[in-house]
Amino acid sequence: MDTAFDLKTLRATVRDWKTAGLTVALVPTMGNLHAGHISLLKRARELADRTVVSIFVNPIQFGKGEDYDSYPSTLEADKAKLSAAGLDLLFAPNLDELYPGGTAEDTRITVPQLSDILCGEFRPGHFSGVATVVAKLLINVQPDTALFGEKDYQQLLVIRRMVHDLLIPVDIIGMPIVREPDGLAMSSRNGYLDATQRATAAVINQALTTAAARLREPGARIATIEGDGIAALAAAGMRPEYFSVRRSNDLAPPRPGDTALVVLAAAWLGPARLIDNVQVELAEPLAA
Ligand code: PAJ
Repeated sequence: MDTAFDLKTLRATVRDWKTAGLTVALVPTMGNLHAGHISLLKRARELADRTVVSIFVNPIQFGKGEDYDSYPSTLEADKAKLSAAGLDLLFAPNLDELYPGGTAEDTRITVPQLSDILCGEFRPGHFSGVATVVAKLLINVQPDTALFGEKDYQQLLVIRRMVHDLLIPVDIIGMPIVREPDGLAMSSRNGYLDATQRATAAVINQALTTAAARLREPGARIATIEGDGIAALAAAGMRPEYFSVRRSNDLAPPRPGDTALVVLAAAWLGPARLIDNVQVELAEPLAA
């Protein structure tokens, strides 16, 4: 496994691969890697001849008072995991490399509407920060394929939309959520939880799974299911931000006739903001 710290080395390496006729897949991350990240890399290796993983904690997607300064950095352990998983190139730039003019007045990419709902309502500017850094990575790696987890479902849709609208020639692949044995979605932020909070955290997936099952029942009432989801999270000692049933293709509120839905939740548990979602494919379209 090679490591590039600068764009020049990254571009030269990818150029050599492409000259040799090889395909390239990119997996962007913020490091502190777990099995969810590694599942993306494994799939990337199946889809392309060469793989690039980026590790960069992107300041502009963190809000004021969020965990940018304390975001876990475990580069040596990450490198060992990536190398063991057969990665070709790690791209680990510093801040100046990706934001040479600083982060205050730089150009931003904004995906309208999708960025303002759900997580976007509670984290203004977050998805613009994500879209901007992912665009920088796509422009510089020029991969054939880029892989993202469905754990960050809204992020995946924002990126798909950006790639579509900016005509970026890359296939975006969404990958299933990798979970702990008790159902908790793997996340770097799970490390913020103490033992008691960690035991409670499984409730978020239980509540989503319950909601998904209820949606399949005849006469399901979405507002009731959402309200019960919020209540279940609050009863477990969490501070829910939202618990919402949406259409899976555009995250709009479901309409009669829809069958492809997703239930999404975000909740604070002690110091950690946790997000999760469960997709639901209804056998019968939603009634009017
Ligand atoms: P990060 O949280 O490090 O996640 C990197 C990628 O791993 C994302 O595509 C995310 O959805 C995926 N991922 C995280 N947990 C997962 C799990 N349990 N199962 C499957 N996939 C999982 O998401 C980001 O970084 C950043 O916003 C980034 C896209 C890198 C832009 O800065």
